[in-house]
Amino acid sequence: MAEIVIVENEDAAGAIVADAIVTLIRSKPDVVLGLATGSTPLASYRALARRIADDEIDVRGVRGFALDEYVGLPAGHPESYRAVITREVVEPLGLTPELVRVPNGDPASIEHAGGDYEAAITAAGGVDLQILGIGRTGHIGFNEPGSSLASLTRVKTLTEPTRLDNARFFDSPADVPMHCITQGIGTILRARHLVLLAFGAAKAHAVAAAVEGAVSASQPGSAIQLHPHTTVIVDEAAASELTNLDYYRHAWANKPAWQGI
Ligand code: PGA
Repeated sequence: MAEIVIVENEDAAGAIVADAIVTLIRSKPDVVLGLATGSTPLASYRALARRIADDEIDVRGVRGFALDEYVGLPAGHPESYRAVITREVVEPLGLTPELVRVPNGDPASIEHAGGDYEAAITAAGGVDLQILGIGRTGHIGFNEPGSSLASLTRVKTLTEPTRLDNARFFDSPADVPMHCITQGIGTILRARHLVLLAFGAAKAHAVAAAVEGAVSASQPGSAIQLHPHTTVIVDEAAASELTNLDYYRHAWANKPAWQGI
């Protein structure tokens, strides 16, 4: 079972995530982080940036792989995930830009971009800690419902709810690309530790389906149940449709301090 941690707010989640990542960096200076975009992980990136600065952590060797990218946005587009990862992660954390990869959404090379990305992750020795958000549709990465639980990095068509959710970042909903390139569910499951974050009532259904529902390609988040080391960090609103809440709180309150997450 995944470990479910219910926190007061995004900052409390950020502190837990930052602590786990700092511990990892201290034991493995060239740690490989799996990086999510969207609003959900931002508080964690801010907390991590503060910890790195306060504790003077050397992050020059830290490597990263983004989960996904839009297909067909012009290079340098501010909402391309390459630009978002640079702005929200690489610069504030002080990472080495060349060590942080994002799938290549250029249509000219899209046919082999998925295979290239898989090869790069494998060559890096795999992802040590993968940060995940979850969409209202239940997607992780951009693996929309129906995605194979064994899928690897490839091009997908976004659902309309996801395009609408992401329209807030664009001038108009029509500007949200139709296609993306995303790590597959199989790719995500190869990471050594999954940390899934979700906040707000709009995520409550997807969280309950992922944590307590049947494992199914119809609910891509439910793939976390197949992983031996998953931590789910949610606020009260996102946790509100979970049935086993008392046990999750009990287990967290009595967790041995040495375990970390
Ligand atoms: P959000 O997106 O963090 O912007 O809510 C999460 C997701 O779609 O995976």
